[in-house]
Amino acid sequence: MRFNASMRRWTNLALLLLAPSAFLTGWLAFSFGTAAARWSLLAHIVSGYGLLLLAPWKSVIAAHGIRRRARFWWASLTFSGLVILSLAAGILHSTGLLRSAGDFTAMEVHVGAAIAAVPFGVWHVLARRVPARAADLSRRSMLRAGKLLAGAGLAYAASEGLVRVAGLPGSGRRFTGSYEVASFQPASMPVTQWLFDAVPKVDITGWRLQVTSDGHLREWTYDELAAFDDRVIATLDCTGGFYTTQRWTGVWLSRLLRPAGALSVRVCSQTGYDRRFSVEDMPRILLATRVGESPLSSGNGFPVRLVAAGRRGFWWVKWVSRIEADNIPVFWQLPFPVQ
Ligand code: HEM
Ligand code: HEM
Repeated sequence: MRFNASMRRWTNLALLLLAPSAFLTGWLAFSFGTAAARWSLLAHIVSGYGLLLLAPWKSVIAAHGIRRRARFWWASLTFSGLVILSLAAGILHSTGLLRSAGDFTAMEVHVGAAIAAVPFGVWHVLARRVPARAADLSRRSMLRAGKLLAGAGLAYAASEGLVRVAGLPGSGRRFTGSYEVASFQPASMPVTQWLFDAVPKVDITGWRLQVTSDGHLREWTYDELAAFDDRVIATLDCTGGFYTTQRWTGVWLSRLLRPAGALSVRVCSQTGYDRRFSVEDMPRILLATRVGESPLSSGNGFPVRLVAAGRRGFWWVKWVSRIEADNIPVFWQLPFPVQ
């Protein structure tokens, strides 16, 4: 097939659909702790492999731009570098060939490079504009798009098959793509924070948990909370790429507050980090004082942390110091925390 002007347009427009699709479906997968994560990842990975399959054609387009030294061509190269880094880290994570390097997991590099690529990508599309035309929706374009997606699906199936046949570590990952670490060995559980939180020092002597419900404040001491014995086996699935299943002990939130008229419940950490939950979820969310049979370690949330089974790790607020029911709807929060 000749790589003519129409193919160049088509390639760029396909990239215009696939790159944002990969970015958004990645976040969509992060927002689920249930099987829905796999469906999002299926779309995610097909978008990712679609980009990869377009690489040979896009290289021809890029070589032309670089040869004629288009204005800020180096910014497009930086963009390419970040996309390639993200793709490579994603594949290293999923196959398990390299799951971390230095202080970073492959998943952190994967997501970090993708976020860093966004401003460059927006600039690139605006600076190298390809105006839409009716012919972009022609039967031929659609057929090409169908072939590309089928090819990407096959590439994904082939890579998963290879991972299994070769017995690579990736064959053991969960439906979220995460790897098991230290299940039922709480002392070896990794310590991670969402973005910028640092492990706080908590002096337990004066420590109180403040619970506000229906305008009423109740303070709980650590010993009072530790006297509860509600238990659950739940899996902490971190967006950094690992999961760990543990036996947690503590108290169901519904035993600490039963707000009559509230719309949601805000759980705040001593660090200022917070997440909001619906009132109906209270009977299924545990405020844990222990993991295994031992108190929590500082890094894992001492004195108390949330255990929110079926939700990704960033919902499992650590170092909880305040819980308050109010009339703000549960959706009135960013889908992902920014601290
Ligand atoms: C993964 C996504 C993409 C990567 C990594 C990428 C990379 C590049 C690179 C390295 C160049 C050559 C340097 C330059 O001219 O600035 C280039 C050129 C170009 N890109 Fe992209 N690009 C991507 C997506 C897109 C999209 C979505 C569009 C438009 C919808 C687009 C349109 C163009 C155009 C029109 C050129 C100029 C080619 C020429 O001067 O002949 N690119 N791209
Ligand atoms: C330019 C943007 C991105 C591209 C091109 C991309 C592409 C990929 C690729 C190719 C894989 C490996 C799939 C495999 O080999 O099986 C992957 C895995 C993964 N990506 Fe992305 N990704 C991007 C951004 C993101 C973002 C922003 C997130 C999350 C917020 C994310 C979350 C994941 C997860 C969780 C996996 C693991 C899937 C698994 O192991 O089954 N990705 N991605």
